[in-house]
Amino acid sequence: MASNVGIYGLGKAVPGRVLTNKDLESLVDTSDQWITTRTGIKQRYIAEPETAASDLGYAAALQALADAKVPAAEIDLIIVATTTPDMPFPATACIIQDRLNARNAAAFDVSAACSGFMYGIEIGQAMMALGYKRVLVIGVDVISRLIDYEDRSTCVLFGDGAGAVVLGPVKPEYGFVASEIGADGSGAMLLHVPAGGSRIPAQIASIEAKQHYVRMYGREVYKFAVRIVCESAERVLNKAGITADAVRWFVPHQANVRIIEAAAQRLGIEPGRVYINVDRYGNTSAASVPIALAELAEAGLAEEGALILLVGFGAGLTWGSAVLRWGGYSK
Ligand code: COA
Repeated sequence: MASNVGIYGLGKAVPGRVLTNKDLESLVDTSDQWITTRTGIKQRYIAEPETAASDLGYAAALQALADAKVPAAEIDLIIVATTTPDMPFPATACIIQDRLNARNAAAFDVSAACSGFMYGIEIGQAMMALGYKRVLVIGVDVISRLIDYEDRSTCVLFGDGAGAVVLGPVKPEYGFVASEIGADGSGAMLLHVPAGGSRIPAQIASIEAKQHYVRMYGREVYKFAVRIVCESAERVLNKAGITADAVRWFVPHQANVRIIEAAAQRLGIEPGRVYINVDRYGNTSAASVPIALAELAEAGLAEEGALILLVGFGAGLTWGSAVLRWGGYSK
């Protein structure tokens, strides 16, 4: 069951510009108090106009490679999870491959919105079973490009960022001991961007109708999120042969503190074992789980042998979960 694949190194990057709840008060009819009580978010980072997904992804990847002590030339696969690629093609993974000079790596993007990083590590594990040895998985989104800063129901929620991990082989019983990814396309329209693809390509009418921005049915997404985090987490805990008591750290997708707390409570994981940083970043989409994990590791909170439960969910609708036993490097 266990893939004997673990995390060798982590990195993260955010843009320099901070957008606080107070700043948003001057853009839309909202308040710091509403945003804080309904979402737990206090601030988020927003990319400068010249910053694209590959810039943030590259910065996070450099850190992850340095942390892993793996030279770029040893990476044989780069997976970039993003819904805000630099451009429709080439893949952002190829742009990052070139900047890293990771000339021995295959490179492609994965589109699974906020679950993208979880999809990326699932695919990374599967590719390592095929013989790939060092896989760089990057979750990055410049989601602010798809946000209407006149729509208070969405603009308060999201922020930009990138997180990256280097996957490599670990000792038996370490690394990803169980994982899953899933989708329910019947909920595709609950969270989507109508235009910019082949159905409604960019045109003056689509811009005027604001069809290039995120449309979201917040309450439905909220209900889905709490349900799927619990269901998916329970499935991977079962697969791993453990109960929630054994989990040292629960690192969920950071969309809304209320979703996180409701799910943690249902799973029986007390607050001291839940990693939360949504207050500082907002929802960074595919970057959310790897940024949280990178912070956890940076702070020295991930101890050798600790069991970490990762759960992502997002548009699609999609989800992905994994139980990770930290450490066990065989490098
Ligand atoms: N500031 C002030 N008021 C706001 C607001 C804002 N930024 N956004 C919405 N409101 C208003 C609504 O218009 C509504 O007003 P009304 O009752 O007069 O119609 C009221 O607040 C309550 O709206 P509601 O949608 O019921 O709030 P909620 O408690 O469900 O919280 C979300 C809204 C979006 C925070 C919540 O539904 C959520 O987090 N959903 C999941 C979103 C998500 O995680 N998406 C990404 C998934 S990866």
